Amino acid sequence: MSDQLSKESLEYQARAREVAEKYIRPVAAEHDRTGEYAWDVVEALKKYELTGLWIPKEYGGHGRGVLDLCLVVEQLSRACGGIGVAYAVNALGSFPIILGGTEEQKHKYLPPIAKGEKLVAFGLSEKASGSDAGSLITTGIKEGDEYVLNGEKKWNTNGQVASYFTVYALTDPSKGIRGISAFILDRDTPGFTVGKREDTMGIRAVPVNELHFDNCRVPESALLGGKAGGGFKNAMMTLDRARPGVAAQGVGLAQGAFEWAMRYTSERRQFGQTVASFQANQFTLSDMATQIEAARALVYSSARLIDSGAKNISKLAAMGKVFATDTAMKVATDAVQMFGGYGFCRDYPIEKYMRDAKITQIYEGTNQVQRMVIGRALTNEYKNLDKELEVKIEHFPEDQV
Ligand code: CAA
Repeated sequence: MSDQLSKESLEYQARAREVAEKYIRPVAAEHDRTGEYAWDVVEALKKYELTGLWIPKEYGGHGRGVLDLCLVVEQLSRACGGIGVAYAVNALGSFPIILGGTEEQKHKYLPPIAKGEKLVAFGLSEKASGSDAGSLITTGIKEGDEYVLNGEKKWNTNGQVASYFTVYALTDPSKGIRGISAFILDRDTPGFTVGKREDTMGIRAVPVNELHFDNCRVPESALLGGKAGGGFKNAMMTLDRARPGVAAQGVGLAQGAFEWAMRYTSERRQFGQTVASFQANQFTLSDMATQIEAARALVYSSARLIDSGAKNISKLAAMGKVFATDTAMKVATDAVQMFGGYGFCRDYPIEKYMRDAKITQIYEGTNQVQRMVIGRALTNEYKNLDKELEVKIEHFPEDQV
């Protein structure tokens, strides 16, 4: 697939691969064990000029698109899924500002994110509002020239280490989804605290936290875009652009797991031959490689569609997310199987891929939600098809309709 990438994209990909091999792979197991944030990797990403490449040039970024973001996330995740998402979540947190911020907000927040000096997190989900994101209950009620935030957020990736937080709250509870607004908060805002860190199955290198708002007063300038309402659309548009990043995490995890499986099965001998030479395993390895190529192609094409400025991007972004992350889970599980009993032990690198892959089917919209998004788009696309078709459904024999 690399032959279809521009010279610039190939350079980003190569630099990310170097960071992954030099700075991530050697420490991936250690960060998985300790849960410590990989600050050395952040420094390496700065040194290799890979931070904020999705941020427009006028705000200090590289002015690159979602495709290049995906290329970098894929390479980082090939070595560690946790560190891959720690990087990608900065795009999730900054897209709301790029899409909906005022010029003042963009000039204040985007340059430090672009330079990698500040990390940003995204606060949408709550304890009782996950897939049904529009049912959130955190409030941000206007009092004089301030907004007062009260409530909690859940599943905030990078929460413990982020300096900035884009969060969604009801500024007008009477309007439901349409009463949701987006805010951008500094970490040290009084009344705002980063809470409990989750004890997660995978991506253990990255902290996932609760956020608490207890009469947290913010000035009007914290309201994204300077206008109340429109927060839900901003969140949905953000997710459309960020989901290919999770999909790329899936491709990277699948690729990394596959490479370990190839290495192991090519060396391990049973019954006098390499395990890879058994036809049963060759078929499994062939399926793994085929699924990865297909996932990569779909993810890159969804990223290209977004970068083209097309309007209807939700369906392809969701398709890429579903396919690539289901592939990651399947390939990682097959790779563990290839390692036999050793695959089940932490002495070997492969079980981590399976643990890291699981969350990619869940966060930034479960794969069930992605299928809802795809299904709704299909219904819209095909609702007029009957009018266009020469042969009408009523012309089919009755027992076949
Ligand atoms: N772009 C723009 N607008 C959109 C949109 C899109 N992709 N999708 C919906 N909207 C608009 C609709 O047009 C509608 O607007 P009007 O009110 O003006 O008509 C409004 O939003 C409501 O739309 P729906 O009726 O379709 O909304 P819904 O309640 O049925 O929800 C959903 C749709 C797709 C299921 C949505 O709730 C969803 O994506 N849920 C999953 C949330 C999610 O991904 N959460 C993950 C958070 S991040 C995370 O995981 C943590 C982390 O740190 C990594």
